[in-house]
Amino acid sequence: MNHLHITIVVLFMVWFAYKAFLLLTGKTAQLDSLRAKFKLVDIILGVLILATGGYLIAKLGHPPLYMMVKLGLVLALIPMGIVAINKKIKPMAIVVLLGFVYVFIASQAKSLTLQKADATAQLASGNLLEAGAIIYTNECQRCHGDKGDAMIAGAKNLQVTMLDNAGIKEMVTNGKNTMPAYGDKLSAQEIDAVVAYAASLKK
Ligand code: HEC
Repeated sequence: MNHLHITIVVLFMVWFAYKAFLLLTGKTAQLDSLRAKFKLVDIILGVLILATGGYLIAKLGHPPLYMMVKLGLVLALIPMGIVAINKKIKPMAIVVLLGFVYVFIASQAKSLTLQKADATAQLASGNLLEAGAIIYTNECQRCHGDKGDAMIAGAKNLQVTMLDNAGIKEMVTNGKNTMPAYGDKLSAQEIDAVVAYAASLKK
């Protein structure tokens, strides 16, 4: 659901940025015909953002304060954006665009910090695999995929690796070619955790 939410948010931002670009460069005729053709897009994307975001917040039970602040900002920015484009108010369009970019970057950074804290807490309670799963999502998934078999950017399939735990640890610590080295980035405990998790992906 998180990926879906982020995808919709990015779509919404690109769509808004395009319309703001047309407005700011004075291509108002083009903007008007675009708006006439895709009237419902704003509403659909806006509702989807709030629905998927609301679902994520509800699932957390006790959402952190920054999420509520973010929700408030987005609830204000979406209608402001619609007004700015409809009434062709250039400065407002710029403010809204910067606002969206700010909220997006801040929340990505924040959720990463929270996940790190989460991994540390799991390690402290001795939940090696749980901690490893969080570290894996943050550090490894973009190349190896969530199940280990994605092989993005030349990454090896972790489901069929011939390496044992010591071999995986060596690989994670020192890297190889485009596989990054994590020896300086992660603590020894974090490396053990992510190695245990990577090994658990083996079929
Ligand atoms: C930037 C992309 C990238 C990231 C991020 C990444 N890897 Fe890799 N990984 C690779 C590539 C590429 C290889 C193949 C290296 C080679 O053999 O040339 C590889 C190989 C491996 C191997 C060896 C598999 C084998 O059978 O030889 C393991 C184990 C591994 N990665 C685990 C991890 C873990 C655990 C993480 C996160 C801590 C991680 N990787 C993060 C790209 C990545």
